[in-house]
Amino acid sequence: MLRQFQVDDLQVSFNGEKVLNHLSFEVFPGEMLAIIGPNGAGKSTLLKVILGMIHPQGGAVRMESDKRKAVIGYVPQSRTIDEETPIQAKDFVSLGLPAKIVPWLSQKERVTVKKAMMMTESLHLAKKPIGRLSGGERQRVFVAQAMVRHPDVLLLDESTANLDPNAQEQMMQLVQRLCKNQGITVLFICHDLHMVKEYSDRVLFMSRRHYETGSTDEVLSGKALEWLYHSTDDEKPKKTGLFREQRDRVTDHLF
Ligand SMILES: Nc1ncnc2c1ncn2[C@@H]1O[C@H](COP(=O)(O)OP(=O)(O)OP(=O)(O)O)[C@@H](O)[C@H]1O
Ligand SMILES: [Mg+2]
Repeated sequence: MLRQFQVDDLQVSFNGEKVLNHLSFEVFPGEMLAIIGPNGAGKSTLLKVILGMIHPQGGAVRMESDKRKAVIGYVPQSRTIDEETPIQAKDFVSLGLPAKIVPWLSQKERVTVKKAMMMTESLHLAKKPIGRLSGGERQRVFVAQAMVRHPDVLLLDESTANLDPNAQEQMMQLVQRLCKNQGITVLFICHDLHMVKEYSDRVLFMSRRHYETGSTDEVLSGKALEWLYHSTDDEKPKKTGLFREQRDRVTDHLF
């Protein structure tokens, strides 16, 4: 179980462009924190910093767990899987186990894989080739893979994107069960505000210039929505007459 999770003053730049600009927030153990914000705001980058895949130029992520070191499960934003990929779902799940020298699974590891698939209601898919699963089935298998190491924290990067509304609900219900029954702390990036409203305890809103954390109702009823859906001074060009004129002048030569 997670005891503490604090993000302090993170700064990340790519080629001199600031993507995370003094970002600080706290995650409460056992909560579902939704991360929302426009494309390019740095949401996926944040998850990669938490995972240690990207080293920030400044700031730190502090996590404390009952274990020696906090374990993180991660389902990345995009995973292209060829339809012809012959690997069975259960073998795909086992790839989430810690690396080892021998390529075969011990009895204990087999049980761990089975449990993770049971937990994510994907056991019936165990022998199916991963490439032949539907989008929703595949996402369950991805979460099963993230679960095999008994994570304290689960990071989901748009796991419901491209799913139909019913599959989205099922996926989020599954994640909520994992969170509430197993005490896993969940951070999920989501552009669907209906899902955010229904399944998050709190929300982190991110844009390049502004961060906001609060209860789901607070953030979704406040300024963040304006930032998401309307032009602002600092995020998007104003759709004023002057802007239109300037834009039309700039693009005239293209037509
Ligand atoms: N490894 C990298 N090298 C250079 N630039 C990067 C790298 N990773 C991300 N970026 C840039 O950082 C910015 C933030 O990217 P990120 O993927 O974190 O955005 P996001 O909020 O997840 O967006 P989306 O909602 O579209 O997934 C983008 O402008 C992206 O091009
Ligand atoms: Mg992203």
